[in-house]
Amino acid sequence: MPLTDVVIVGGGVIGLSTAYVLTREGVRTTVLDRRELGREASWAGAGMIAPTSEHVSVHPTVALRSWSARLFSDWSAALLAETGIDNGYRRSGGVDVACNRDEAEALRAAAGRWRAEGVEFERLAYDDIRRVEPALSPSIEVAYYLPDRAQVRNPWHLRALSAAIEGRDATLTPHRAVKGFETSGSRVTAVVTDQGPLPCDCVVVAAGAWSAGVLAELAVTAPTPPVKGQIVLLRPDRPVLKRVVERGSNYLVPRDDGRILVGATEEHVGFDTNVTAQGVLGLLAEALQLCPGLSGATVERCWAGLRPGSIDTRPYIGYAPGFENVIVATGHKRAGLQLSPATAEVVGDLVLRRPPRLDLSPFEVGRQPGQTGDDSFRS
Ligand code: GLY
Repeated sequence: MPLTDVVIVGGGVIGLSTAYVLTREGVRTTVLDRRELGREASWAGAGMIAPTSEHVSVHPTVALRSWSARLFSDWSAALLAETGIDNGYRRSGGVDVACNRDEAEALRAAAGRWRAEGVEFERLAYDDIRRVEPALSPSIEVAYYLPDRAQVRNPWHLRALSAAIEGRDATLTPHRAVKGFETSGSRVTAVVTDQGPLPCDCVVVAAGAWSAGVLAELAVTAPTPPVKGQIVLLRPDRPVLKRVVERGSNYLVPRDDGRILVGATEEHVGFDTNVTAQGVLGLLAEALQLCPGLSGATVERCWAGLRPGSIDTRPYIGYAPGFENVIVATGHKRAGLQLSPATAEVVGDLVLRRPPRLDLSPFEVGRQPGQTGDDSFRS
């Protein structure tokens, strides 16, 4: 008899969120990770959560993002009640800025999509930009205020999820690498680890950039190329910003204590997490261009993480082709944290053999690449 119903391969935010949903439903769950839980992309990111949309979107990633944004508020309250851990969820609001004509045009196009989706926003008049965020550079002429942008503290969120899952008697197993699978026809019967086989009824592969390697053990093809992101933590001598500031793929995320995360690079350099002079130089230059008052801030730390790519801009969420009890949930690239609650809820639907509450066909493993840029928020 299996000791566990479901084995989740990967203890990042997708794996832990899925375990949170499954244990809520009374499913016996084991989470495996090759190292400490949640120490890869989930831990490295800035914890930005894009706004929710009023309207039901035809764009699949928008629907996933919007549902996730709503769930974050509920989950954060539930996690606090269940574990006593504040995950740092704050609806701090955001200001998206443009620094040249091309960026202003891109932002105007994004605002058109926000309007169609029912995302709340306001284009700020030049004088109002500094009224909303006085530290922003006077050279910023175009800015949009997004009151529903939110953030969480990733490590706190991961800790809260782990505590909730453990409190429900699931098994969290760090430092256990997956070596392969035992199969019978179209079913996996056990996950083979470096400490022996784990019999199970169902497997969820949520191993971030390592997912392609895990799935290759089943001869399933789902490319998850690592996309490296470097990030810098600044400590100004007094709080400088209140809201998340985003410019294209770069951002400044102010924490309650005044610290500011400056992110992030997007590099295709394999499984390399070195922090480089070029990467840090670019991020600091960006921070000072947006917010010159940060020039005296202390550089506290720099680090890098590997986001899991996919064949297009969408994650993979669905059955592994050829297997009736292997579910894939990975490839979220920059948006793993912000898409995690809704991803976990629909994976829960698949595990429990309920009709998924979202059309998952655009996220199928083995699909042809979809249109790019079907979400109007990058992070
Ligand atoms: N989620 C932000 C990033 O990946 O840089």
